[in-house]
Amino acid sequence: NSPPWPAFRGYHEYSFAHATMGVRLPTILGKAIQDVIRTLNEQWDEDKMIDLNKCIERMEDLMHDLTGQAVLRPIIDDGEGDVALWNKEIAKYFQGKNFINAPWLFAEAYKYRRLHECFSISKYWGDYDVFFRQKCDTFSRSSQAVFELSTRFVLPWKFAESHTPGSDANVEQVHEAERLMFLELTQICLWGNSTDLSLLINMTEEDIKKLQSTGGEHLAATEKNILGNHLPRLWEHVKELRGKTGGRIDFVLDNAGFELYCDCVYADFLIQSGLAKQIRFHGKRFAWFVSDVTKKDWDWLLNVMVHGELFKDISDTERESLRKLGLRWKQYEREGKWIYEQHPFWCTGYTYWDMITEAPDLFLHLSRSDLVIFKGDLNHRKLTYDCAAPAATPFEEAIGPMASAPGAPKICSLRTVKSDVVVGLPSNELADKLDKDEPGWKISGKYAVVLFSEGRPG
Ligand code: F6P
Ligand code: MG
Repeated sequence: NSPPWPAFRGYHEYSFAHATMGVRLPTILGKAIQDVIRTLNEQWDEDKMIDLNKCIERMEDLMHDLTGQAVLRPIIDDGEGDVALWNKEIAKYFQGKNFINAPWLFAEAYKYRRLHECFSISKYWGDYDVFFRQKCDTFSRSSQAVFELSTRFVLPWKFAESHTPGSDANVEQVHEAERLMFLELTQICLWGNSTDLSLLINMTEEDIKKLQSTGGEHLAATEKNILGNHLPRLWEHVKELRGKTGGRIDFVLDNAGFELYCDCVYADFLIQSGLAKQIRFHGKRFAWFVSDVTKKDWDWLLNVMVHGELFKDISDTERESLRKLGLRWKQYEREGKWIYEQHPFWCTGYTYWDMITEAPDLFLHLSRSDLVIFKGDLNHRKLTYDCAAPAATPFEEAIGPMASAPGAPKICSLRTVKSDVVVGLPSNELADKLDKDEPGWKISGKYAVVLFSEGRPG
């Protein structure tokens, strides 16, 4: 069950796999060790310090395996729901393989799982997240864009009441306002993905600002960077959701902090406008690909918005807008309009081509949704098998069973391009031209795709 094109591997020097496996991952792991040492130096309890030192030793062993071509070993049974899936996949496909000659997607995911194992088998540090400090820090340095959005979207969506019977609102105007707002927020949600921490270490506040600028003009300019653009098709589908079906939309989340905040602003509009009745957010069970959302990140965001003092030198209006927005989102959670979930499958090395066989319960669960939005680069790689498909390959072909299996849900991938696999473009020539004119265009996060798949009734 796989596409006809070869998957990228670390030894492919032409691919970003090479730099990632050879340089980026050891750098990320080195920084993670520094983070744990910082935590170690803040401890006073001897047992905990001894235990944490053992975690550091395991991280050093992992560094040794990663840089020394060690054979991928099974994951130690730490009681997590994904261990059996990992070890089955290793035994079945990757016996004798190492970080460089195993498929990039698998090898990179395996590294994050091994990193989690360094802590999960400890006595005191089972849920330690080596990236937590970084994730919080980047959000706190995103103040301009955070308040631009909060001051604007704290006000209730003004046409929310217009769909109630007896309302005298001009229906066409309301629909047009909704369409425009939907398109704008979809783009905000999309570009929120360009700030993930794995690529943008050492950003200045200016760099962050540039990436997060959310003004209308900016959005019009960035739409031309959406190389495969199904935004109009997406709207055609979403506008039909109101009242007609259950109105459930799922977000398979990517990064914490600012990206999650943008996801929530978007999800808030979907609820307020009545387009969706329920949003299900899917996060990770533990620290994953540096900045991905865990339950702790989710709680941190909502609570820091309401109770925190993260931002200095802000006006009362700004502080209040963020607090009110946070309160509204927490209320959605209490009412069951927003639900946070964390299935173990999201932290495995499997691509989504294998979801039906390896996590049938999850596939069934998603097949009941009216729309599943996959955020970000990693989700896109997993949807498309992370292989060298031609750029003009239709999205539905590239995601295989996730489009063609009975019960496949409607899917949208909102992804800024940060790695080799690119599909859904209008022509192969477009990619060839970019290869020639703008080397590095596939890893800069400057370009994006918004791709939609119709799914298939069960
Ligand atoms: O491809 C580059 C990369 O950093 C991968 O390591 C990873 O797949 C991805 O980008 C992370 O990006 P995102 O957070 O958008 O999934
Ligand atoms: Mg990520």
